[in-house]
Amino acid sequence: MKNLLNKKILFIICGGISAYKSLETIRLFKKNGADIKTILTTSAKKFVTPLSVTSLSQGKVYSDLFSVENETEMDHISLSRWADIIVIAPATANTISKLAQGTTDDLASTVVLASDKDIILAPAMNVRMWEHPTTKTNIKN
Ligand SMILES: Cc1cc2nc3c(=O)[nH]c(=O)nc-3n(C[C@H](O)[C@H](O)[C@H](O)COP(=O)(O)O)c2cc1C
Repeated sequence: MKNLLNKKILFIICGGISAYKSLETIRLFKKNGADIKTILTTSAKKFVTPLSVTSLSQGKVYSDLFSVENETEMDHISLSRWADIIVIAPATANTISKLAQGTTDDLASTVVLASDKDIILAPAMNVRMWEHPTTKTNIKN
């Protein structure tokens, strides 16, 4: 992994089964010098806990769009401006679809839509989720 010394990474975890792998990714980013803040979607908290994420990242974990504490300390616009890069891993079908449509009904989608930075998406879903006619793609196994 390239030297990430002092790189500010906003790491967004969505509610997919592979969310557990995000913990290892955060650990490696951290080991390589990155400064990490994390957003967990509501669903992500079913798969990983804010406590494990904050312990590994040694940074703050955000989740609530309508948080009085965040509005005074680091609101959604400041959070999007703070980051050098945004990494969404895993990116669920739900969140990808919201970003594509401009839906901003939670902190993760609102911050991403407000961002002027590069965004890395790591889509992760069971292959069956790609088979519905509405999500047909050219992706083959
Ligand atoms: C056990 C389980 C595993 C899931 N895994 C995935 C997954 O890998 N990818 C995905 O797109 N959705 C997955 N889902 C569905 C998402 O959790 C659901 O669409 C949720 O609304 C996503 O919310 P978020 O995008 O705000 O995180 C899974 C759901 C369950 C119950």
